[in-house]
Amino acid sequence: MAELESDSFEPEFELVEMTNFLGEIKKLMSPSVMEKGLELRSEFASANLLVQTDKSRLQHILINIITNAIKYTETGSILLAYKAVYFQRRLGIEISIEDTGRGMSEEFQKVLFREFSREESNSEKDQQGTGLGMVIVKRMIEKLGGEITFESQRDAGSRFIIRLPLRFLKK
Ligand SMILES: Nc1ncnc2c1ncn2[C@@H]1O[C@H](COP(=O)(O)OP(=O)(O)OP(=O)(O)O)[C@@H](O)[C@H]1O
Ligand SMILES: [Mg+2]
Repeated sequence: MAELESDSFEPEFELVEMTNFLGEIKKLMSPSVMEKGLELRSEFASANLLVQTDKSRLQHILINIITNAIKYTETGSILLAYKAVYFQRRLGIEISIEDTGRGMSEEFQKVLFREFSREESNSEKDQQGTGLGMVIVKRMIEKLGGEITFESQRDAGSRFIIRLPLRFLKK
């Protein structure tokens, strides 16, 4: 929260090896995935990728997105994947989190990254939240020199995509 208000945190960059790093996140999230009767799958690039990034911030970002995936999915699975891509005309990494959950309406998708925006659901299993998670996530990713996009369809699931440069270059 303090970070959201000040918007002035300085990222601390280090080299992060992605297969290990995402494997740890998978382990960390497994209990809540299992508790909900979902499955957490992964597809990691065959070659190791070293990414110069802020490890704890990236961890925070991914935990937030995966927590949402769990929260807004009643049946099915969550897929955590990464691969090398071109990003901003350089080699980069793409991390994606895909779920088979309730998805988001087209109307709501326009305001997802707005503070306090939350979509009502028609099920009784409504979830609590502040509607700030994704706002913070987006700001953090941009601080790390990356971007976040998503695709979603109501009642069909969502896919969040993060792209980051392999090396952080000061502007
Ligand atoms: N994977 C997802 N599937 C379906 N809807 C989602 C998903 N992720 C986010 N949303 C929608 O976007 C809204 C905003 O998400 P965000 O993470 O910012 O807030 P929250 O989860 O409601 O609360 P919190 O601030 O505690 O994270 C959610 O309330 C939900 O309506
Ligand atoms: Mg959330």
